[in-house]
Amino acid sequence: MLWFAMLYLKGRSYLAARGFLSHLLDEVPDWTSLDGELVSDWSLDALPEAPRSEAAIVRRPVYWTRTQWLEPFILEYDSISQAAKSLKAIQRNWAAYPTVLQRRTALISEALPPLPSKPKIFPFELPRTPMGGFTLLDEHRLLGSARCSSPFPNGEFSFVEDKEGPPSRAYRKLWEALVISGRLPAPGETCVDAGASPGGWTWALAQLGAKVLAVDRAPLEERVAAMPGVSYLQHDAFTLKPTDLGPVDWLFSDVICYPEALYAWVSAWREAGLAKNFICTIKMQGPTFDATATERFASIPGSKIIHLWHNRHELTWINLRS
Ligand SMILES: C[S@@+](CC[C@H](N)C(=O)[O-])C[C@H]1O[C@@H](n2cnc3c(N)ncnc32)[C@H](O)[C@@H]1O
Repeated sequence: MLWFAMLYLKGRSYLAARGFLSHLLDEVPDWTSLDGELVSDWSLDALPEAPRSEAAIVRRPVYWTRTQWLEPFILEYDSISQAAKSLKAIQRNWAAYPTVLQRRTALISEALPPLPSKPKIFPFELPRTPMGGFTLLDEHRLLGSARCSSPFPNGEFSFVEDKEGPPSRAYRKLWEALVISGRLPAPGETCVDAGASPGGWTWALAQLGAKVLAVDRAPLEERVAAMPGVSYLQHDAFTLKPTDLGPVDWLFSDVICYPEALYAWVSAWREAGLAKNFICTIKMQGPTFDATATERFASIPGSKIIHLWHNRHELTWINLRS
């Protein structure tokens, strides 16, 4: 006889950002289970149905993730085909996160609809169809979630890259931040790109037709400086006052600095009211995670802080005027 049972759990499971499991464990010190790099804080108090009401979801700032499993459940199943059938009955997209029983996980995955895996051409709209995730706990139980914070399988994706135009690969994180924001600088909009050298972000912005003032103590790659709409100022970005540069549509920063220095600079721009939209990299100095500075950014109204798939030991702060 075929059998299966499903228990919804109160809490979340968080898939660690690549290389930053220790930061995630610091953020979720009361974790209840660890499967590979999937950290969970759910309790076994089963919920009668998916915790769609926000009140049922544990909310706390957790940043060092690839994706978060928002509606975790445990499915008890009889066979591989039964597991795949049960998942398909919920929705189409399920990304396997293999931990134990990798062959069995692969067999369930093969019985599910294929997931998009091709590199994406920038710009593109975020997929609207829900992305689920699952991992096996043992031979007859899997942990899954039909809704994840990232629309990409396990939070991972790649762009079709331009290997010739940009002088660094840093443009990929700006592309990702813009795709996630759902907004692009429009042709003719003004941008300050602080910490611009060698010019990956400036290249990406100029490609969109924006007017970019690239500021860095180091020189900008010549071919980027020569792009239409690009001007370059060799200067310490943080000693430039907002009034020195005037109003801008977009303020970008990829400056290597202490998060507090970036916060002070951004605060000056906000107080002056001279920048409409901000996308800045909060770079962690040394091996630790500066949670205090990160929370200061998070407390700015309208802020979103994420670890992008293309980020390294850094988070991205996005604050756009609605
Ligand atoms: C990670 S790199 C930026 C890469 C760049 N976004 C790209 O796409 O090519 C960091 C840059 O910050 C610059 N930088 C560090 N401190 C700075 C400061 N106080 N003012 C301006 N630039 C600074 C460095 O010279 C370096 O070029």
